[in-house]
Amino acid sequence: MMNMKRAFFTVLLILSIFFFADRAISVIITDSKRLVVENRFSPESKEVKAEKEKLKIELGKRLFFDPMLSKDGKLSCASCHKPNHAFADDKDFSIGINGQKGDRNTPTVFNTANLKFLFWDGRAKSLEEHAIGSIQNPKEMGETVGMVLAKLNKDPYYSKEFKKVFGTSQIMADELLGAIAEFERTLISKDSDYDKYIAGNKKALSQNAKRGMDLFFGKAMCAECHKGPDFTDGDFHNIGLPITEDVGRAKVSVSNKDTRKFKTPTLREVAKTAPYFHNGLFETLEEVITFYNAGGGNDTFKDSLKKPLNLTEQEQRDLINFLKSLSGRQLKIQSPFDKK
Ligand code: HEC
Ligand code: HEC
Repeated sequence: MMNMKRAFFTVLLILSIFFFADRAISVIITDSKRLVVENRFSPESKEVKAEKEKLKIELGKRLFFDPMLSKDGKLSCASCHKPNHAFADDKDFSIGINGQKGDRNTPTVFNTANLKFLFWDGRAKSLEEHAIGSIQNPKEMGETVGMVLAKLNKDPYYSKEFKKVFGTSQIMADELLGAIAEFERTLISKDSDYDKYIAGNKKALSQNAKRGMDLFFGKAMCAECHKGPDFTDGDFHNIGLPITEDVGRAKVSVSNKDTRKFKTPTLREVAKTAPYFHNGLFETLEEVITFYNAGGGNDTFKDSLKKPLNLTEQEQRDLINFLKSLSGRQLKIQSPFDKK
């Protein structure tokens, strides 16, 4: 009896050793497999990654300036988002393919990487999603992403560059949009006089601009909506601009209370992005401030914050001086097509 029990436990012991040993080996094998896999990719450490990142940005930049992205081959992103106009447009409404007038003013691309919502009505949530919109909008570039990919795949330069960055021989939508977005993420406005002032250089702002800053954050209540490092709350408001058929955010949210609300735009580089507002209504910052000083226009859906400000002439000039201090160092971004 005793022997039977011993024999039983011995068998059990032997079996369990096999069982666990087998597992241990398989763990080692999977681990060693993983090690091999990791080893194969580990040369792509920091330097390789950084190099690919650089190439991806270059690729995105070229795409941004390439009219191949539009149906008629004449319009690039940069035709509307002009580098020498802080990546905004100098026209009230943008002009798309075949000279078609668009519905809204072209906003700056600066600091859009930080935005929660894109477009004046916030209908896109990422730069990738947005780029599809621009390419496929019949009043903008009027092209399908499929056609753009077909053109790019036939192009020896793009085939080669995409392969270098993404390692694939077929260019796909994700890669096209990813590259453009990666370039856009580099368009950050910084080192403005205001930034220098905040960083501790108290001489960076003139007395006028400093008074304007106090008004902006105080009595004029601008910072109720234009807040944070990019001067936007990322939200939508109706400031009482003249009523048109453009209902803004309400078209996206399908909510009556969003009628004619538009996204609070960044004020970075604002001195360079005239004309102003989603409809390009005003040519100058002076006109914008006159409008705000009067408490905005009339609209039953107007934001309750918009009331007459009663700013003196001097205070209005101070406020404009402050807005001018939000322009950063001029980024020297040249079209890759100009070089040749
Ligand atoms: C025909 C002119 C035109 C072209 C070409 C164009 N855009 Fe735009 N872009 C606009 C207009 C107008 C808006 C605002 C549209 C709206 O809000 O309804 C806009 C909005 C944007 C925004 C959102 C900014 C914000 O503050 O919400 C980004 C980012 C942008 N465009 C990038 C691009 C890229 C990338 C391309 C090329 C693939 C491109 N655009 C091509 C006119 C243009
Ligand atoms: C209730 C929120 C709110 C307040 C308060 C507010 N703004 Fe605005 N601001 C907006 C919105 C929303 C827009 C875009 C409106 C549109 O185009 O329909 C805008 C647009 C602007 C623009 C045009 C920018 C461009 O790129 O077209 C400027 C300049 C501006 N605001 C400056 C100011 C100043 C200066 C103050 C203070 C006097 C102020 N804002 C107060 C919400 C606000």
